[in-house]
Amino acid sequence: MADKKGLIYFEDGEVIAESGDVRVYLMNDELFLEIGPGHTLWALQSEITDYITQLSDLPNGDVLEIGLGLGIVSRYILTFSKVASLTTVELNPNVIATYNQIKDRLYDVNYLKATKDKQHIILNTDGLEYMFTTKYRYDFVFLDFYDRIDEDTMPLIKDMANGCRRVLKPGGVALGWMDPHTPEEFIKEFEAIFPIKN
Ligand SMILES: C[S@@+](CC[C@H](N)C(=O)[O-])C[C@H]1O[C@@H](n2cnc3c(N)ncnc32)[C@H](O)[C@@H]1O
Repeated sequence: MADKKGLIYFEDGEVIAESGDVRVYLMNDELFLEIGPGHTLWALQSEITDYITQLSDLPNGDVLEIGLGLGIVSRYILTFSKVASLTTVELNPNVIATYNQIKDRLYDVNYLKATKDKQHIILNTDGLEYMFTTKYRYDFVFLDFYDRIDEDTMPLIKDMANGCRRVLKPGGVALGWMDPHTPEEFIKEFEAIFPIKN
């Protein structure tokens, strides 16, 4: 994946965090998260502008997030004054390990500042299992556990949406990350599911 200057993150970037087969690269002041042996890109810092638009003013109260990735969204959610707590569920322990290696660096990023003191619980488990077993309830749930929206990921997205209905407090809202690169045929299906309002 080349950027506007023709640079490729895994050739021209620097690995700044690594655990197992998870690597975080830095290139042109942007972070890139790669999981697995085949240079599969799972998250990039530049997506923050889309996240800001989609999350709008929804994060509030007790928030549940499924999928840590680079932790960009976690840290953005924690900047909301009306957010009391954030629980992030992440399946891959190596992703949590790389986040722990880069998290101090994120305090230097303008839109991720002023979050040091807020409670951030990171759990290493499967998001679906968590939602169907936890006794906790949430005001806002954000799903971002997929690297694309298509016929392979849609069944799990629907299962997770059902899990959201279980963990939302009355009046709570759940949103799934709408990847701007989603093929047209899946956009309608996705938009029929989210937002979920309890
Ligand atoms: C697209 S990334 C999340 C990007 C993140 N929003 C950020 O700010 O960088 C998706 C993450 O979800 C995790 N994941 C995948 N399946 C999961 C599951 N079933 N439960 C919890 N986390 C999962 C992946 O390991 C990956 O870290």
